[in-house]
This record gives sequence, C-alpha cells and structure tokens, in this order.
Amino acid sequence: VSLALVSAGLMASALVGPATAADDLRKQALEVFKPLPSTIPAVKGNKITPQKIELGKDLFFDPRLSASGVFSCASCHNLTTGGDDNLETSIGHGWQRGPRNAPTVFNSVLNEAQFWDGRAEDLKAQAKGPIQAGVEMANTPDNVVKTLKSMPPYVEAFTTAFPGEKDPVTFDNMAKAIEAYEATLLTPAPFDTWLNGDDDALTPDQKKGLALFMDKGCAACHSGVNVGGHGYYPFGVVEKPGADILPPNDKGRFAVTKTAGDEYVFRAAPLRNVAVTRPYFHSGKVWDLGQAVAIMGNAQLGEALNDGDVKLIVAFLGALTGKVPEVVLPVLPAETDATPRPTA
Ligand code: HEM
Ligand code: HEM
Repeated sequence: VSLALVSAGLMASALVGPATAADDLRKQALEVFKPLPSTIPAVKGNKITPQKIELGKDLFFDPRLSASGVFSCASCHNLTTGGDDNLETSIGHGWQRGPRNAPTVFNSVLNEAQFWDGRAEDLKAQAKGPIQAGVEMANTPDNVVKTLKSMPPYVEAFTTAFPGEKDPVTFDNMAKAIEAYEATLLTPAPFDTWLNGDDDALTPDQKKGLALFMDKGCAACHSGVNVGGHGYYPFGVVEKPGADILPPNDKGRFAVTKTAGDEYVFRAAPLRNVAVTRPYFHSGKVWDLGQAVAIMGNAQLGEALNDGDVKLIVAFLGALTGKVPEVVLPVLPAETDATPRPTA
C-alpha cells in the first residue's frame, strides 16, 4: 500500500468522521426543530394577499389607532430593535406601565397561540387586544373604524384588500390586515441555514450549545419552528423562581382557564431572536441571557448548569438571531376634518 493511498484514506476518514457527526446532530435536531418556511405561511381564515399585507403594514405603523394618537403597534414592537420595546414592561396610554414584557412580533405568526399565557388563538384575535387595552392604546373599535373611514386612502385600501365586501372598513378586517402583514415578518437565521444542510452556518460552540440544549432537556419545551411558542408549563416545574423574577400577582394561564393547576403556568417562550430581545421572562426582570438560561436550568430542569454550559447554550441561542426583512416605512393617509381628535 503506497503512502499516498494511506494518507488519502486517512484524509477520507477525517472528512467522513466530522461529516457523520454533523449529520447525526442535524438528524437529531430535525426531529425536534423545523427550519423557517421560505415563503409566507398560510393563515387560518385569512387569505394572505399583497393588498392585505400593504394595508396591514400601514396599520401596524399608524399611531392613530390609539386614542392618544401616540402609540402604534410599532411603539412596543419596534422592528428596528428586535420587534420588541427593550423595556421591562411596556409603556402605553398615559405613560402607564403594563404588567408584562412585550414579546417580539417577528415570527409570531408561527406561534401556536399568542401572549405569554396563550390567551389569543391567533394574530387576528391578538391584534384587537392592544388597541382596546387601557394600558396600551386605550381605543374603542367604533372610534378606530371612524378614524379609518375618515381618511379616503384607507377606505380605498380596505376596499381593494377586501374585494366584494359591502362595508370593508371594519375592526375585524383591520385585524386581518395586520395579521397578514405580521405573517411577512419572518427572520431566517443561521440555525435555519444549518438545519437546511449548511454545516458551516453554525460555529463549533453553537453546535455544542445546540447539543446541550437538546441533551439537557430544554428542547422538551422549546421545540418546533419557533423553538418554543407552543405548550404551557409552570414557570418553576422543579423550583419556583423568587418573587423578584416571578411576581406573585401574575398567575399566567390561570387567568385564562381558572384551573388551579394553571397557576404560574406560561407558554414556553419562542426563542428566535432571543439574543436581541432582552430583558427576559414575562416579568422582564432578567437582563442577561446567560442568567435567564441558568434560571431555566434550575427552575425547569432542576439542574445548576455550569458557566461553560451556559456560555455554549447562549452561543447556540445567538444562532437564532435572524435577518430582519427590509421594511420601507409607509407614508400614511393624512387626517381630515372628520378624523376624531386624539384624546389625552
Ligand atoms: C404581545 C402584536 C400593540 C405590548 C403581542 C403579541 C403580538 C403583538 C403578536 C404576541 C406575541 C407573542 O405572544 O409571542 C401587536 C400589534 C399591535 C400591538 C399588532 C397593534 C395593534 C402593542 C402596544 C404595546 C404592546 C401599543 C405597548 C403599549 C405588548 C405586550 C405583549 C404583547 C406587553 C404581551 C402581553 C401578554 O402576554 O399578556 N403584541 N401589539 N403591543 N404586546 Fe403587542
Ligand atoms: C422562558 C431558555 C428549559 C419553559 C425561557 C427563556 C429562555 C429560556 C431564554 C426566556 C425567553 C424570553 O424571555 O424571551 C431555556 C433553556 C432551557 C429551558 C436554555 C434549558 C436549560 C425549559 C423547559 C421548560 C421551559 C424544560 C418547560 C418545562 C419555559 C417557559 C418560559 C420559558 C414556560 C416562559 C417563562 C415566563 O413566564 O417568563 N426559556 N429554557 N424552558 N421557558 Fe425555557
């Protein structure tokens, strides 16, 4: 056997070795996670059309959907900073502080239910919430419809987006259009490129972190296309975090189901873009992702993760930071004499 052949054989096994390990990791990962769809996903009961998307984008950025004329969806879901507001809990109408941290809107169309407690079934149900919430936009459906009808370009846009409807400018259609726009807010990440077969898309540390994320049991709850966003679990399966992180007055899903077993139960948070959406947890009390990971280890798995493992898992979570779609700011219709004036 010539030396050349031996070394060729060695090289081949060196190539096959890591490639097989990478394939194994990917195979394991594909059993738990799914890459982002490459096209806009279909949404139940709402056919997504370019006209709806365009209108929904206008509405998403329009502060006149709020009673004060100050708050748009984008105020708390800023597409330039991770799709959230970077605050512990959001500030809304009259500078009031809401009770919870704002989750990102990116990829939210792929969550199985919306909000930390899953109380909205989908994005059209969701969008009606903040507009009416006293601490958010503090408006009424009637006033929103009146506002929209007062601006002819909006009436035209609703007519085009909802063809054949006699009275297309409705609160329901507003929510549908917003949902259509949100369905476009997908952020493909290095993790997707890797799941789709490109070994180099993840760094060695990110791959180690991914392996830990699966082996330690994080993926039991944070799985699927959004690495979470479905399934409800007590925050503190093994050990309840202290009141500084889990304020006793917010009982999570209990408020939705009124079932004793649902006290302090929350939706397993979707983890896409988590590295750019601090602070963490529904309370927004934790500003460091490593600390959030360590808290999860103790609270959900009963395991004190060591610093090295935490760092690797954080590296993996960084691979979930995706590419934000290019957004051209809309120019919105001007108010008319018929537009309701902002209230304080
Ligand atoms: C939750 C969209 C306005 C603060 C959400 C979610 C979506 C969303 C999709 C759920 C995300 C998830 O569960 O992962 C919108 C839209 C808005 C709007 C379309 C305009 C119509 C606002 C405003 C504020 C705000 C103005 C702040 C004043 C929050 C907070 C949550 C949330 C705090 C979490 C609430 C909870 O889980 O109980 N929003 N949002 N949102 N949004 Fe908004
Ligand atoms: C929240 C990571 C294990 C259920 C979170 C958050 C992170 C995270 C970073 C905060 C997300 C945000 O605020 O946007 C991890 C890691 C785990 C792990 C690295 C493994 C070490 C688990 C397990 C479960 C679970 C096993 C279910 C038994 C939840 C729930 C929340 C959450 C319910 C929301 C908590 C809240 O109310 O704020 N996870 N997680 N996690 N995770 Fe995990």
